Formats: sequence, structure tokens, C-alpha cells
Amino acid sequence: MPFIAHISDLHVGSINFEEYLLINAIDELNSMEPDVTIITGDVTENGYFLEFKEAVPFLDEIKSPIMVVPGNHDARHVGEECFEELIKNRYGTLKDKKHGLKVIGLDSSEPDLDYGKVGRAQQNWMEHEIIHADEENLYKIIALHHHIIPVPKTGRERNVLSDAGDILQSLMTGRADLVLSGHKHMPHVWMMENTAFITAGTVSSLRLRGREISSFNTLNIEEDFIEIILNRADGTKRCLAKYENTCLGD
Ligand SMILES: [Fe+2]
Ligand SMILES: [Fe+2]
Repeated sequence: MPFIAHISDLHVGSINFEEYLLINAIDELNSMEPDVTIITGDVTENGYFLEFKEAVPFLDEIKSPIMVVPGNHDARHVGEECFEELIKNRYGTLKDKKHGLKVIGLDSSEPDLDYGKVGRAQQNWMEHEIIHADEENLYKIIALHHHIIPVPKTGRERNVLSDAGDILQSLMTGRADLVLSGHKHMPHVWMMENTAFITAGTVSSLRLRGREISSFNTLNIEEDFIEIILNRADGTKRCLAKYENTCLGD
């Protein structure tokens, strides 16, 4: 059954970036041998070419296949061009037929703006990719930086997707299984119908809220249940959510 690692908000280049946190997290997730690692944006702090250059060797250390999407910080200072040059396409898919899953990565960033938007063209593309995943009976995982549903304990809402309602409708209609995001540096899970909306904390930044510490998520998708585990930098683990798996074997 699929086992997924989800890390986010590395913020390489920030004064709050702690290299040892990222190295430790990558060591730990490599030892867990995930089938895929999903990185939901804010790889860099300012989108600078040199920050991407510094970030790439860390990403290269990840042994599993990876899917990386950009965050608002990566889209600063024409960072989207550096992202495409040094990392990969800003949106795309990653299929793992062996484990029966498909990751659909979206670019929700807007140049030099903090709010997020998926946009009509990408929304249509995503809808088609979801239909194709259904045809192949693959587990449908959507990855994007910005949260679609507001996250508790993150202050007044101001950075939700500007087209959140439209994207939410597409995800519900397409019966997406998992929607992974970052951005708020606050781990959380919302369930809506049979879709889990999972937000990861920051893996290597000290821009934290309250008593949170840096962390990453792992997702255990079993035949009859799905478990989302918070892996904290101090070595402690906590179950963020566990729910019945109604998706596989339909
Ligand atoms: Fe961030
Ligand atoms: Fe962000």
C-alpha cells in the first residue's frame, strides 16, 4: 500500500532557515523509504537563483521520486523561471502504477504576490487529469502550495486561493482522495466528504506559530484506513488524523 512523505516550506535562504533541520528531516524520511515525497512549495525564501541552487542538493538527497510545486516565496523576483530551470515544471503529474497512485501538482503562485490562484486553464487541466486517474483506477493526490480551506490558529485569513470555491468544486466532483498543501506553517487535516485536505508545517524554518516546531507529515494508506502522522523535529510523532479508507478497491 502507498506510503507518502509530505514536506513543505523549506525557505532556503531565509534568516530563519536551519540547515540541520532539513538534513535531519531528509535523513529520517529516507530511512522510512516512502514511495513518493511531495514538496508543497516555498522551497526558497526570495525566489533567487542562488537560493534555488542552494536548495537543489538537498532535494537531490531525497531517495524516493519527488513532486515539487512552487510557493508564493518561490515566485518572487521572477523565481518561477529559476524554479523551472533548476527544479522542474511548475505543475505536472507523477504516476506510480506500482503503488496505484497519481500526484497532480499545481502551481498556485502568482508572481510577486502572496495570495494564491490556480486559474481556469490549470483547473481544466486538473479536471482532465483526475478523470484519467479514475480511468486507470489510481489514487488521486493533488498537491499545491496554498490552502483551499482556512487553517485554524493562523490568524486572519488573507492568503487562501482566490479561486478556492471553484477548485474545491472540481476536487469534490472529481472525488480527489488527498489534497496536500503548505504555506501556513501549521500542520492540520480537514475532512470533507471522502477527501482529506492536509496541510504540512514547515520542515526547516523557524517561522513558527505558538508552540509548534518544524515537522513533516507521512501518510500511511492502508486497505481499510488512512493515517496521517506528524513527524516533529524533536523526534516525537503524533497522529494528525486516522479515517476509514473508502477510496481503494471501489
Ligand atoms: Fe512558507
Ligand atoms: Fe507560502
